[in-house]
Amino acid sequence: MESAQPVVVAIDGPSGTGKSSTSKAVAAQLGMSYLDTGAQYRAITWWMVHHGIDVTDPSAIAAVAGKPEIVSGTDPAGPTITVDGVDVAGPIRTDEVTARVSAVSAVPEVRARITELQRSLAGSAARGIVVEGRDIGTTVLPDADVKVFLTASAEARAARRSGELQGVDVHSTRDALLKRDAADAGRKTSPFVKAGDALEVDTTDLTLAQVIECVVTLVEEKRAGK
Ligand code: DC
Repeated sequence: MESAQPVVVAIDGPSGTGKSSTSKAVAAQLGMSYLDTGAQYRAITWWMVHHGIDVTDPSAIAAVAGKPEIVSGTDPAGPTITVDGVDVAGPIRTDEVTARVSAVSAVPEVRARITELQRSLAGSAARGIVVEGRDIGTTVLPDADVKVFLTASAEARAARRSGELQGVDVHSTRDALLKRDAADAGRKTSPFVKAGDALEVDTTDLTLAQVIECVVTLVEEKRAGK
């Protein structure tokens, strides 16, 4: 019998593994909320750039980390993100933000602020939530009911990403992805690593539908057994 207890799902992995598409689809299919934590780090990075903060200076970032008000809408059919009331869904995907997000998200004060937001959203999701990111299963929600770590070869990830960004060269996308992975994995606070108890799914040779089905099955099993 299904219990009323909401299920919390953590989906971590680097970009280009199908993390966002999978997480959104699973949440929509199962009537759950959805949170893109990368969008939150991108949003705080956008705010820093917009306000002329020197993003090469961690102490300058730390000093203002508490200022921006970041609000995430968690409907998987139309997730939203605003900073101080401004819709930043478009601006957070620019190269300018992408190139700076690893530096900003490495600052402990930024991570503490964003982690608090994430825990609060997860805790208030009455119908359960799928949270995607880099440190969800390890740091943000270590007690998540289902933990998945998505991987794919660098080539497959670059090909998917440059397809999404239309017309962008695959080799430069691959180099940029690997550079960002290395920066995220090498940071001191909450480095990007797989949680010991996460199920690793290599998506290189899987279709998106197959990955979604795999995660939906895991969540349904968890719901049934809870
Ligand atoms: O998933 P994404 O590419 O939108 O994430 C952007 C950056 O945000 C990524 O390079 C690392 C950072 N990030 C993080 O440090 N922790 C998370 N939980 C999610 C993203």
